[in-house]
Amino acid sequence: MKRVYISAWGEPQDVAECRTAPDLPAPGAGEVLFSVIAFPINPADLMFCRGRYRLKPPLPATPGAECVGRVEAVGAGVTRVKPGDLVINLMRENWASHRLVRDVEVLRIPAGLDLAQAAMIRINPPTAELMLTDIVALKEGDWIIQNAANSAVGRLVIELARRRGLRSIAVTRRDDIFGELEALGADACLLDGEDLAERAQAASGGAPIRLGLDAVSGAACARLAMAVAEDGVLCNYGSLTGEDARIHTADTIYRGVSIAGFMLGRALARRSVADVEAIYARIADDIAKGGLHAPIGAVYPIEQIKDALSHAQRAGHNGKILVAPNGPF
Ligand SMILES: NC(=O)c1ccc[n+]([C@@H]2O[C@H](COP(=O)([O-])OP(=O)(O)OC[C@H]3O[C@@H](n4cnc5c(N)ncnc54)[C@H](OP(=O)(O)O)[C@@H]3O)[C@@H](O)[C@H]2O)c1
Repeated sequence: MKRVYISAWGEPQDVAECRTAPDLPAPGAGEVLFSVIAFPINPADLMFCRGRYRLKPPLPATPGAECVGRVEAVGAGVTRVKPGDLVINLMRENWASHRLVRDVEVLRIPAGLDLAQAAMIRINPPTAELMLTDIVALKEGDWIIQNAANSAVGRLVIELARRRGLRSIAVTRRDDIFGELEALGADACLLDGEDLAERAQAASGGAPIRLGLDAVSGAACARLAMAVAEDGVLCNYGSLTGEDARIHTADTIYRGVSIAGFMLGRALARRSVADVEAIYARIADDIAKGGLHAPIGAVYPIEQIKDALSHAQRAGHNGKILVAPNGPF
C-alpha cells in the first residue's frame, strides 16, 4: 500500500513524501478495511505538515483529516457497513491508499454520490452549516460578512445563507471571482482593505451586520470586526495568514463586539451521535441532489503528493486539490 509520511515539520511539499508501506492485515473483530478513493488537501492539513496544527503527533506521521473510501472487507461483528459501501472516515491519517479502522469510525454515505464532493463532506459542509446556527441566532433578512469567501467553506456559507434568507457580504483578496460568488448568492462582494467597514455598511444599506466569519486572522480579523455591528459577533475559525486573531479594543469595549471561536470537532462533540449522523445524512442528500458543491482544482495521484501540495498553496488556484491514491475515479 501507499502512504504519505511527514518525517520532519516544515514546508508541506518539502517534508511530505509518498512511500510504500506494508499491506494492512485482514480486519479483525469490529474493524473495517477500506480503500481510499480520494482525499482533499485542506488548509488544516498544511498547518499539520508545518507542525502548527493543534495535533502534533510523534514523527513520522501521516496527515489527512478526511477522505472517501470503499469498504473492501469487514471483521466479525460489523453490521454498520459491508464490502462495496462508500464511507467517510471520522478519524485522521487518511493520506494513504488503504485504511483499517474501527467500524464506529466510518459513516456510510449513499452509493452514487459524486466521489469528489464525497471526499470533502466531513469537514467543510458541516462547518459552514453550524457556523450559521451555533454562534448567533440569525433570522431571515439578517446580514453576515465573511472573509476568504471564495474558499470551499466560504462558498458553502454563501449558498446556505442564501437558502435561509440571510444576506451575505463576501470579502476576498481578489476580484476575479466576484461574478461566481454573486451567482452563488452573495449580496455584495468586496475586496479586503483598510476601509472595509465603510464599504460593508454601504453594501448593507446601513443594516446591522450581526455576524462576521473570519478565516484569515491577523489584521484581516480586525478589519472584519470593524464591519460587524454594535453588539455583533466576530467568529474566528481559521488562520490562513498563520497569525493570531486580532481585534481593536475600540470594537470590543466601545461597540460591544464579541469574539467567538468555532471548531467543528467541538460543535459536533456537543451533539448526540444521532444528531451528527443526521447532519451528514442531510449534507449527503443535498450533494446528491446537486445542491452543495465545492469546485475542484485538480486531482493528483498519491505519488505526486509534493506537486499536489505545491498546487494547493498557490494563491488564486481556484478549487480544491484532491489526491486519488488508487487511480482515477
Ligand atoms: N474551525 C474549523 O472547524 C474549520 C473547519 C473547516 C475549515 N476551517 C478553515 O476554513 C478556512 C477555509 O478552508 P477551506 O478548506 O474552505 O479552504 P480552501 O477551499 O482550500 O481555500 C483556501 C482559501 O484561502 C484563501 N487564502 C489563502 N491564504 C490567504 C490569505 N493569506 N489571506 C486571505 N485569503 C487567503 C484562498 O484565496 P485565493 O483564492 O485568493 O488564493 C482560498 O480562497 C481555513 O482557514 C480552514 O482552516 C476551519
